[in-house]
Order: sequence, then structure tokens, then C-alpha cells
Amino acid sequence: MKKKFLNILKKKNKEKIVSLTAYSKNIASVLDNYCDIILVGDSLGSVLYNYKSTREVSLDMMIEHSKSVRKGIKKSLMVVDMPYNTYRNSQEALKNAKKIMSKTKCDAVKLEGGKKVYKTIKTLIKNNIPVMGHLGLLPQSDKSFRFKGKKALERDKIIKDSKLLEKAGVFSIVLECIETSLAKSITQNIKVPTIGIGASNYCDGQILVFDDLIGLNPTNFRFVKKYSNIIKEISKAVSNYSKDVKKRKFPSKKNSY
Ligand code: KIV
Repeated sequence: MKKKFLNILKKKNKEKIVSLTAYSKNIASVLDNYCDIILVGDSLGSVLYNYKSTREVSLDMMIEHSKSVRKGIKKSLMVVDMPYNTYRNSQEALKNAKKIMSKTKCDAVKLEGGKKVYKTIKTLIKNNIPVMGHLGLLPQSDKSFRFKGKKALERDKIIKDSKLLEKAGVFSIVLECIETSLAKSITQNIKVPTIGIGASNYCDGQILVFDDLIGLNPTNFRFVKKYSNIIKEISKAVSNYSKDVKKRKFPSKKNSY
């Protein structure tokens, strides 16, 4: 296994794994200083393109954004989401994952689901494509937003799925919007790190959508903490620019040839 992956695995039970999403180079280059894992998430469909769901995101969109992100990353592990309908069976997944890996030079891909994608994940890993799993709320297949793990049947399924993903050989699992004690139990019972989003403080790591963290994306999810009010900053800058242009202060001689 490559050193980058071993470093992530070694952090389990020792040090928290820090992860964020990025969709472009300039942002990725800032995040790279602070993150262990940078994910090019298919959340870009709703965050950047205002799509109703991530199902509308295409393989080409993921590849183009990932090529940009790659240019901003020096040290973090780069993971790319496989979009909806690109991994309906093992052969389709292998063809598309190979395309993602070769065009974007990312380190790994992420797939949503448990038992349903077990064989597919095994095929990718057998072909030297590292995989990150994703359980709990699954934006590509769940019709509505609802946290998971309240009902016993649902809990059992997610626990079984986490064991299956571990057996398939994933190097980590994203746990999205699941009940606290379920996140704790999964994290304690599998050897690979869990990366939570809306999945309590018991996970081995944490991920957020970067645009949510800076307050650029208008969301009110309980699991998001806004670390800045970037809209205020942007408004201030654009307002000053507008005033300067109107008052003929910009461009000045300094900005002219
Ligand atoms: O698409 C995405 O950004 C994700 C994270 C929220 C985990 O899958």
C-alpha cells in the first residue's frame, strides 16, 4: 500500500483525519495546507450548478473539476466521487474509474453504498484503484434528506454494510448523517478510518463541503458549522469596486499601461 494511504490508516485511534471538498485549483491549494484528504465531491452539482440533486452530475464534469483541483494539491490525498450511473456494474465502474484515475491523476475514487456495490469495489481494488466507501445518507439514491440509524433494521444494515466495505478493502468510509451511537459503534468495530459528516465526534475524521464551511453556500443543516461569513466579505469588496469604478478611481495610473 502507498505511503499516503498508510498515513491515513495510521491515524485511526490516534489523530483526527481532516478532510474537505474542493472543486477548483485555487481553493484546493489553500485546503492542501490543512487537510489530509481533499474530496472532489459530486456535491458540486448542487453547490456550483444549482442542480436539484447530484444525479445530474456527469463524469465529464467530475473530470474537469478534478483536473483543476489536482493542480492545487501537493500533499493531501485526492479522492474523486464517481457520479450517479457510472458504476451500475463492475465493468462499467472499472472503465469509468480508470478514466477518472488516468485523466485526473487522483489517488482514489469514492462510491456510495454497501452490499449493492461490494463486488464492484472488489473489482476496482483488484485493479489497483483505491476506494473510499460512503454509507448512511446516500445523496445519489436517497429521495429525501433524513438522518439514518434510528430504526434497528436500518442500523443493522449500515453496520453490516460497513463490515462488507472493510472486507472489500476500502481505505476509509464516509459516514453521512447517521445517529451518534451508530457512528461510534461502526468506528469502534472496523479497522479502517471513518470520516463523518453529520455523524458525531466519534468518527476518526471529519469532512465538510468547503462552501458550507465559509458560509458561501446558503444551507442551514444542523451538521454544518460556518467558520466565516464570506458573503459579507465578498459584498464589501464588490461594493468598493463598484464605487471606485463609478468615481473613476479604478483603474488608476498604477493599473494602466
Ligand atoms: O459530494 C460530497 O461532497 C460528499 C461529501 C459530503 C462527503 O460526498
